[in-house]
Amino acid sequence: MAKKIILDCDPGIDDALAIVFAVGSPELDLLGLTSVAGNVGLDLTTSNAQRVCEFIGATGIPVTPGAAAPLLRPPIDARLVHGDSGLGGARLPDPTGRPAGGHAIDYLIDTIKSAPGEITLVATGPLTNIALAVHREPRLVKLVSDFVIMGGSASRGNVTPAAEFNIGADPEAAAIVFRAGWTVTMVGLDVTLQARATAAVRDRLQPLGPLATELVLPGLDQYATDADPLAATPLADGQQSRYRAHGAEADGIGPAVHDVVAMAYAAAPGLLGLLPARVEVETTGRWTSGMTVTDFAPAAGEQNALVATAIDVGGFWDLVLDSYHRVAVAMRTPA
Ligand code: RIB
Ligand code: CA
Repeated sequence: MAKKIILDCDPGIDDALAIVFAVGSPELDLLGLTSVAGNVGLDLTTSNAQRVCEFIGATGIPVTPGAAAPLLRPPIDARLVHGDSGLGGARLPDPTGRPAGGHAIDYLIDTIKSAPGEITLVATGPLTNIALAVHREPRLVKLVSDFVIMGGSASRGNVTPAAEFNIGADPEAAAIVFRAGWTVTMVGLDVTLQARATAAVRDRLQPLGPLATELVLPGLDQYATDADPLAATPLADGQQSRYRAHGAEADGIGPAVHDVVAMAYAAAPGLLGLLPARVEVETTGRWTSGMTVTDFAPAAGEQNALVATAIDVGGFWDLVLDSYHRVAVAMRTPA
């Protein structure tokens, strides 16, 4: 039985790649998307989610818009990384359909309440919608089957030395989410910076027809300018990778597909190694705001997270290519 998924996202190139993965994965049943302001503004994150779904033929997936700004702070964006369009060099047709009516918060609450214990909630953008939803309906934390985020880091950030972008864009929302009473599966930079679209990966993507030539590869080409200040460089013998303050492209590794890792975990949890932890989000530090302060030795009863610390990179890319191949075949198959 495929795992029911709702994805809250801010497309964004890697969000778009995560949507493609979810649609293609036989392990997942993507019920719906909710959009949030993040990489680009809400209108664009919403229409980009629609564009991607229509482009790959997943026309039955509702996209419900959510928060246009963080809870308290002025918005920041990542256009320098994802391009003004939010999809890098990919130029997809405008959506023909309209976003779903209503607000993302109500979609999240109503859908999860309609299937208690059955739905895995995945969030790959700032956590504004999730915070508003659990504030409005605290029982949500007991009604989801699992809650997985791409966000945070037990080591260093990318939007600042302390903060990863999704947390740093709305630290107050993230603080609410981590304190809401559920166990957050935190798929952070500690593992996602190892999931890089190298030249070898792009060679494997080439045969996938328009999915590759119109979306994935042009998206990655722009995303290659992703100035991840940290470049995880696995040592020759596969030891714990070390970080060098480097632009990803500068060392030829390739861009990190952060959000795809979180979605791949939902499909295949064995891809990641996780450790129990207590995570608190810094909201007042002048230099550390948005930091996910991670204690891997939580006091009894204090655990609120499972933090990803290891990834099977080869297995990850094999799973991604399998899912993308399925989408590419479906795109060639007349409706
Ligand atoms: O730090 C990476 C995260 O920030 C990803 O979700 C990317 O899409 C951006 O939102
Ligand atoms: Ca994202």
